[in-house]
Amino acid sequence: MKQIVVSGIRSTGHLHLGNYYGALRNFIQMQNDFECYFFIADYHSLTTHPDPKDLHPNVRSILAEYLASGLDPEKSSIYIQSDVPEVCEIFTLLNMHAYIGELERTASFKDKIRKQPENVNAGLLTYPVLMAADILQHKANLVPVGKDQLQHLEMTRKYARRFNTIYGAELFPEPDAYKFHGEPIKIPGLDGSGKMGKSEGNCIYLNDEDKVLTKKVMRAVTDQGPTEMNQQKPEVIENLFTLMKVVSTPDTVEHFNDLYNKCEIRYGDMKKQLAEDILKVTAPIRERYKEIVNDDEYLRRVAAIGAEKARESSAKTLREMREIMGFKKF
Ligand code: TRP
Repeated sequence: MKQIVVSGIRSTGHLHLGNYYGALRNFIQMQNDFECYFFIADYHSLTTHPDPKDLHPNVRSILAEYLASGLDPEKSSIYIQSDVPEVCEIFTLLNMHAYIGELERTASFKDKIRKQPENVNAGLLTYPVLMAADILQHKANLVPVGKDQLQHLEMTRKYARRFNTIYGAELFPEPDAYKFHGEPIKIPGLDGSGKMGKSEGNCIYLNDEDKVLTKKVMRAVTDQGPTEMNQQKPEVIENLFTLMKVVSTPDTVEHFNDLYNKCEIRYGDMKKQLAEDILKVTAPIRERYKEIVNDDEYLRRVAAIGAEKARESSAKTLREMREIMGFKKF
């Protein structure tokens, strides 16, 4: 039997190169080897109180970006979290065995308290339980997550174990973090800060207009240039090369590397090439995105098929949980 994979995608913000090379490209690969559920976590997005008029457009654009990038509704179940309300009941049941102390100790919760002290809602506190419900409803074996989500996954494992132990059942497998083959590609920021990220405010988005994207790349932080042959590159320059290795041909990288080593590099030329190559690899995604983002008929169909598959799996787990916990009909 195929292993089951679940991953949630936050429904805030657009996809940037870091998301694409760090995670999404692996999701696309996983679709061939596993039974995958990829969903847009719109319930989770409510913890920060988004404006209701933004909720649906955000879901739409994220869905369209993921489809445009290659998530395939024929291979995976792609759905919107709130289209599968069974997850809320599973969440309620799991909450009874989730202790306040352990939730309060979660790093992401402590972080949020610091960042939004005026809005410390219960949804933030129980965020890991809802995430556990997302995962356990499909009895996932594998969850592809970044470092920042490992603690949440550890809690999911704990809740699975706890449920099984308390009720003497073998309902939930303990899901493992899915490790990608080889070193994960970390996309650097071009502003001199370590990584590309939304909170760093330094993202190059897949959907940036050509001009905007080029401008961002041309503004990348550099230095005065090398002064000695073959000298070691400072971090900001290494960053440019790292990104170039991802999007450009090996010949191009070698060309600029040679120029650097000979102290003949002109960063402006390198950035121009880099911008061109980023545009080249992202252009097909942008084109596809434009085709589907307003195609309600298509998006509705994808979401409906995804939700149907997910609901079937979730409803089955919920029935089993209810039975194990003692719910009965007269
Ligand atoms: N918390 C995840 C994030 O912020 C999103 C998420 C919600 C998730 N539910 C999930 C990820 C279940 C994996 C599995 O990125």
